[in-house]
Amino acid sequence: MIKFENVDVVYPNGFKGLDDVNLNISQGEFVAIIGLSGAGKSTLIRAVNGLVPYTAGVLTVGETVVDPKNKSKLRKLRSKVGMIFQQFNNVGRISVLNNVLIGRSAVTPTWRSLIGWYSEADKEVAFQSLERVGIVEKAYDRASSLSGGQQQRVAIARVLAQDPEVILADEPVASLDPPTARKVLGDLRRIQQDLGITCIVNMHHLDLARDYADRIIGMRAGQVVFDGRTEEATDAVIEDVYQRSLTAEDVASLDAPISLDDLPEGATVEDLEEAVAAAGDADGKR
Ligand SMILES: Nc1ncnc2c1ncn2[C@@H]1O[C@H](COP(=O)(O)OP(=O)(O)OP(=O)(O)O)[C@@H](O)[C@H]1O
Ligand SMILES: [Mg+2]
Repeated sequence: MIKFENVDVVYPNGFKGLDDVNLNISQGEFVAIIGLSGAGKSTLIRAVNGLVPYTAGVLTVGETVVDPKNKSKLRKLRSKVGMIFQQFNNVGRISVLNNVLIGRSAVTPTWRSLIGWYSEADKEVAFQSLERVGIVEKAYDRASSLSGGQQQRVAIARVLAQDPEVILADEPVASLDPPTARKVLGDLRRIQQDLGITCIVNMHHLDLARDYADRIIGMRAGQVVFDGRTEEATDAVIEDVYQRSLTAEDVASLDAPISLDDLPEGATVEDLEEAVAAAGDADGKR
């Protein structure tokens, strides 16, 4: 359902972020992307929803050819492709429920999300999403008052409220302590299986990739250098992806937190994703 055919991403400064990527990801697959820092994992994920425009080849999601220049087509595509980030990216000062309702903005008319008006049906979907991640009792709490694991569950609920076909997750558990990371990934895994959602997740922790993914894709210098079933991704294979022995430093240093408190009450999913991408650019990265 997600197909990369000879896809390149060349950044405006001439740097090649993806180099002739060919992939075919089926509906309902849970795929982990691994590789060293700078390998192109975020670039690959962001190409799928057009946050990073690809510059050669063909990239298809379902029946839709991703066309980063066509804003209305892109908006339609993004309504079906939910995104989760390392730093949760909830709007801290508003309620958990309103954060989840931001997900509905992808599927409600723009004018309604702009004035922050959501129907009873939207609220029902938001509550169901919170129920799936087990934090419905937090609906009226400020998002900033929640623990890291709970905040990432809010982000998952926000994406579920979009009724997505695809979930893209960029290091979704890298900021969490290991037991919490496992619980959150376990939730994501259960939900994507229950709903048949296709999931692409960037992960630094090899053990997590091995425990939760169906398939592992290894990247190096913008290229796919391994693509196989999880059980085929032995230490020797991973060391080849990394081109050296595995060390503790293979675990990522954390990104600086991104504040989204400036986003207005009626922020849409697109506003949120653009804000995160812009914060990454300001970092001189991504
Ligand atoms: N906007 C940009 N302009 C120029 N180069 C970029 C941009 N964004 C990313 N790059 C470069 O592209 C390469 C791949 O970056 P990417 O963020 O996809 O790596 P990554 O595998 O996600 O790394 P990490 O594990 O650190 O998140 C890096 O060398 C990075 O510096
Ligand atoms: Mg990255």
